[in-house]
Amino acid sequence: MARKPLMAGNWKMNNTIAEAVVLTQEIANRLKRAWPDKADVVICPPFVDLKPARTVLEFDKTEVAVGAQDVYWEASGAYTGEISVPMLKEIGCEYCIVGHSERRTLFGETNEDVNRKVAALIAGGIAPIVCVGESLAVRDEGTTLEYVCAQVRAAFAGIEAADAAHAVVAYEPIWAIGTGRTATPEQAEEVCAAIRAELARLFGDEAAEGMRILYGGSMNPGNVEALLAQPDIDGGLVGGASLKAESFIQLVEACVR
Ligand code: 13P
Repeated sequence: MARKPLMAGNWKMNNTIAEAVVLTQEIANRLKRAWPDKADVVICPPFVDLKPARTVLEFDKTEVAVGAQDVYWEASGAYTGEISVPMLKEIGCEYCIVGHSERRTLFGETNEDVNRKVAALIAGGIAPIVCVGESLAVRDEGTTLEYVCAQVRAAFAGIEAADAAHAVVAYEPIWAIGTGRTATPEQAEEVCAAIRAELARLFGDEAAEGMRILYGGSMNPGNVEALLAQPDIDGGLVGGASLKAESFIQLVEACVR
């Protein structure tokens, strides 16, 4: 089954509203000129930038989607500082990153938290982008595939195949994030293929074949083509290179070539 590539920009904690509007406008202008129907594109700005970014994209009638970087699983209530799925839905978010390694390591997010978030997002009609990936210590131990597959199983525990269909998995080796050290295409493909095999065990071959698996970790215009050429890599989850319209557009263009 042909999977439509997805290029996702994770802005992390960058860009004020004013800066977000400028960057979104630049991206929209460039993609509006010749919008190819061959790839999905999503930008994931900080919460406060979501509405302004979405407004720019709507005004410009682009197909670029917005996504959040995190969510809480309860719909409302006494959870100071948290943002819920219905709040994201109202803004027009189509995607939400969950389980990013920065949230796991800096903010103590567990596999169980990730699973609750995935379930809440699916129930609310927002596609989760579930991040998994090993540390350098795990890679050096030689247990990367077991570690990453266990993260996948935990994230999707209790989820039905039909509901998982729109979910996305992003393989982000921690040692490659923001370091300039990219996984080789072969290293990335080995893990992405193992993730797809795990998805097939969970949801069946057909569902797994239809689900998109992204690579993330120092993806840039210089390495994107070799990574996308791998059979189980369906796009990217990009940090640094998504903060400039020029480089982000080059990554999108690599998806549609
Ligand atoms: P970099 O592209 O900056 O390495 O970040 C990757 C990432 O963490 C995307 O979620």
